[in-house]
Amino acid sequence: MLILIDDADLTKIGELYAKYPYDGVTTNPTILGKTGNPDPMDQLKKIRALIPEEAMLHAQVLSTETDDMVKEAKHMVDAIGGNMYIKVPVTANGLKAISILSKEGINVTATAIYGVIPAFMAAKAGAKFLAPYVNRLDNLGYNGVQISKDIHTMVKAAGYDAEVLGASFKNSQQVLEMGKFGIGSVTVNPDTLKTLAFNQVAEGAVKDFIRDFENCCGEGKTML
Ligand code: E4P
Repeated sequence: MLILIDDADLTKIGELYAKYPYDGVTTNPTILGKTGNPDPMDQLKKIRALIPEEAMLHAQVLSTETDDMVKEAKHMVDAIGGNMYIKVPVTANGLKAISILSKEGINVTATAIYGVIPAFMAAKAGAKFLAPYVNRLDNLGYNGVQISKDIHTMVKAAGYDAEVLGASFKNSQQVLEMGKFGIGSVTVNPDTLKTLAFNQVAEGAVKDFIRDFENCCGEGKTML
């Protein structure tokens, strides 16, 4: 399962990458706004330079008219380069933009997905990734994990060239449920990522091993 970092803060991204080889970074306008950098393209270029060459970078268009979305997407691809995915919200205008961009060979991540039908339409239009908002769906009284599973089943059954990119997580249990079902990718905020990559029980067990070993072999002793 691909695991991406859902954040645009350079320090947080750098710290996470220093500890674990993630598969890329996703942003949205809210996330970019939180960095405090008034030049979002500059921030995206800095993220691009920070992460490995093969890592994906997903960034979203702001325009709401199809032609403007297409123009904005092409500008981002040209200016940022690398393994770039353009996030397009699944509105009526967005679906048309997804179709146009996909036909022109631009990688599209369909975003702001709040149901199976929008995901189905985006996959049919050529999107490479489909981003259901798991926790936001839960907050609306739906079951975000179940909707993501249904999207995954639908995509595979129809043979579309698209993968679910689960988004908007509140805890690692939601992420785990996606993985158990064979969902191919998730994007996770730094706090939840830390709960995935840091196991308090294992850390405690290691401390016990060291204490027991040092009692016998001396302080600071290792196998070296
Ligand atoms: C990613 O594509 C989404 O924009 C993001 O995961 C939304 O997360 P939130 O619901 O925590 O804002």
